[in-house]
Amino acid sequence: MPQITAVQGRLVYNSRGSPTIEVDVTTDRRHVGRVSAPSGASVGMHEAIGFPSGGPEASLRILDENKTRMVGIDPTDIGEMHHVLREIDQTPNYARIGGSLAFALSIAAAESASLSEDLPLFAFLRSRPPLSTHATQPKFPYPLGNVLGGGAHAGPGTPDIQEILVCPNGAKTISDAIQTNLEVHAELRRVLQRIDPGFTGGKGDEGGWAPKLDNEQSLEAAARACENLGFTLGREVSLGVDFASSTQWDAEKRRYVYDRAGFENDVNAQLEFVSDIITRYKLIYAEDAVHEEAFEEMSYIRECFPDVLVTGDDLTVTNAGILSRAIDAESCNAAILKVNQAGGLYDALEFADLAAANGIKLVTSHRSGESTDSHISHIGVATDSKMLKVGVVGGERVAKLNELLRLQSLDLICGMAAL
Ligand code: PGA
Ligand code: ZN
Repeated sequence: MPQITAVQGRLVYNSRGSPTIEVDVTTDRRHVGRVSAPSGASVGMHEAIGFPSGGPEASLRILDENKTRMVGIDPTDIGEMHHVLREIDQTPNYARIGGSLAFALSIAAAESASLSEDLPLFAFLRSRPPLSTHATQPKFPYPLGNVLGGGAHAGPGTPDIQEILVCPNGAKTISDAIQTNLEVHAELRRVLQRIDPGFTGGKGDEGGWAPKLDNEQSLEAAARACENLGFTLGREVSLGVDFASSTQWDAEKRRYVYDRAGFENDVNAQLEFVSDIITRYKLIYAEDAVHEEAFEEMSYIRECFPDVLVTGDDLTVTNAGILSRAIDAESCNAAILKVNQAGGLYDALEFADLAAANGIKLVTSHRSGESTDSHISHIGVATDSKMLKVGVVGGERVAKLNELLRLQSLDLICGMAAL
């Protein structure tokens, strides 16, 4: 039986330059899994806590104090590491050890186990609990890329809407898909420079352009970039939007406050605002169109747009209990999978399994503060995710896309997921 022989943590930095933790897990003295934890800027209120009150240093101290409980366990049983983490931290949101520690430890253990079995990480994860519901043949998820960003990811003057995304839904191979997103991103810069010759080429946290334009002008520019390349929206490429509406929601006023554009929406006006954007820009993807507790309004959007991936992120926070509520209310037909929202890998895979069993499509996603790791590309393939939301440019984003290209060259995955 393979055994964990060493666990080592350290402090490193993420793409925003904020400190985070990295963990090495070694199996049988030679197979080293290494993972560092990402972090979000528009964080759902029910997500796992990133770090306990003492920050990354406190998580590292807890790791040092508890290492001996991990040495000797079998990392090929994903549930064992989960069990140890849950013995140390019984809070629902990893408030004691921090979700970042749960994330890094659990994925590093799985990576070292996959190396000990000489399997790519995605194949290792696919072949054992808690994943049980999946297609026989793994497929590539469509890369969903942020081409224009505002909201919590960019500064004043940028749109209130957090992300305008491109999906190359006509692509036949993963390399074509990545290339298409890169072309749209590059053409969008030219479009933005024509609109505003003073545009500096500044980008938001996820690599999308961050122009001084409002929501409407930004959507128009993204649509024009696709059309300039000869694409018909909704055919070869489609646009998506992460509204990240909890950022705008003012619970006291019970209104969505669009500070930058200078208007407010009551609940009904928000539904009209979102529906109008989905219709006019032929969106294939609409994330968090309403705030994180608006299960019923989400269900209204889902019902109006059965062909759009009406996706929960802050709504479902990779939490199986909350997803059950969304399933009962029929709030969404797709859900974001961010392992660090759940905390540990086991928790996130349980969420994925529940989604798959209920026909909810998965979108495995990066965070705005990322590492250069590429484990989530494997997690996206392992969970039959329809999309992998990882950005278009920036070293920490491209690292995930390049991993898909490596998998393509291994010939273990054929074709693209059916959207
Ligand atoms: P976050 O944003 O990582 O800053 O939370 C990403 C998203 O909302 O999808
Ligand atoms: Zn989101």
